[in-house]
Amino acid sequence: MSNAEAKNQTAGSTAITEATFARFAREVAKYPSEQKQSAVMACLSIVQQEQGWVSTASETVIADYLGMAQIAVHEVTTFYNMYNQQPTGKYKLNVCTNLPCQLRDGQKALHHLEKKLGVAMGETTPDGLFTLQQCECLGACADSPVMLVNDRTMCSFMDNDKLDQLVDGLRAAEGQA
Ligand code: FES
Repeated sequence: MSNAEAKNQTAGSTAITEATFARFAREVAKYPSEQKQSAVMACLSIVQQEQGWVSTASETVIADYLGMAQIAVHEVTTFYNMYNQQPTGKYKLNVCTNLPCQLRDGQKALHHLEKKLGVAMGETTPDGLFTLQQCECLGACADSPVMLVNDRTMCSFMDNDKLDQLVDGLRAAEGQA
């Protein structure tokens, strides 16, 4: 058992299991041993996949495992929008509000969703279904307003009708129509 694994077990709060460490090891093995820090994004993704978000405790475990400073791991977590720094709803809706999208109704789309969902930007609906966030350029400025659902599904030309359809469709899929 490595120092990081031992420390994790002692702390007992991060819930990173032996199986998770095995997944870390598979990522680390892809790089030369002196460059194992290159696996930091993969390790963060694994934790998020398993826990839904990345806590500072998890960052510390990853930092120890990769031989990095915790702040260096935290810099990665905070740089990339895809890493959740707190638990999110089942559907994470990220609306681009960078300048080119601002000029083409990006902010309007965000405000429409705030009204529709009854939450402010950055908040999660009380039923735990939606978390609404703004995000940086998604590389599809010409398709504004654009948004990303759960870090994977890109939605383009999101006028108010399409936003309503998206939210209503997801609610219906969850039996909440
Ligand atoms: S500024 Fe929104 S996609 Fe580029």
